[in-house]
Amino acid sequence: FGPKPLAGKHVLVTSGPTHEPIDPVRYIANRSSGAQGTALARALIAAGARVTFVTGPADVAPPSGADVVAVQTAQQMHDAVHAALPADAAVFAAAVADWRVSSASDRKLKKSKDGLPVLEFAENPDILAGVAQMTDTRPALVVGFAAETDDVEAHATAKRARKGCDWIVANDVSPETGIMGGSENAVILITEDGAETWPRMSKQDVATRLAERIGNRLV
Ligand code: C5P
Repeated sequence: FGPKPLAGKHVLVTSGPTHEPIDPVRYIANRSSGAQGTALARALIAAGARVTFVTGPADVAPPSGADVVAVQTAQQMHDAVHAALPADAAVFAAAVADWRVSSASDRKLKKSKDGLPVLEFAENPDILAGVAQMTDTRPALVVGFAAETDDVEAHATAKRARKGCDWIVANDVSPETGIMGGSENAVILITEDGAETWPRMSKQDVATRLAERIGNRLV
């Protein structure tokens, strides 16, 4: 593993949660901190890559040295990803909301004696699957993440096939693991060659190992 194995390569990374508005002051979100995606972007930059970092509203600061595109919603993340292509590799670490509120109000919802608000939802685009299934400018390596709470390897293997990506980085986000929002991760890397269980380590060490693997793959 040389000092700058990713020199001259453009890598796109999505990270963090998305916020889906309900009205101008309220939104639906999730517990993603952005820690793993940020650590990965940092490791890719250290390995010499030019990194476009498309991030939702995360708890951690974006990595210095990345081209940072800050977004709120899944639709904005989708548009920013497509604007940043082409890339040699794309890694989708963001926890994208599956649904947006299609009945979002442009005025603050008020309490009413007439009853409770009812939210209607629409499905968000699957950004990873869309890029993995591109025909002309598909990145040479497309990597997804899978946050699972049970049967991690089986679900992640099925997800790899369904989305059409090259690799899936799967982890167990059951609350007792402390992984979501924590500083450590325990991952299973699913590739075309099968499943590799990595020992529990810091998110920074997971990032370094992943960047190394991406470097080996892109040479
Ligand atoms: O289907 P699921 O949400 O579990 O898939 C997780 C993977 O798909 C992650 O890599 C995530 O970043 C990506 N994803 C996406 N767009 C969505 C939903 C998930 O890019 N709308």
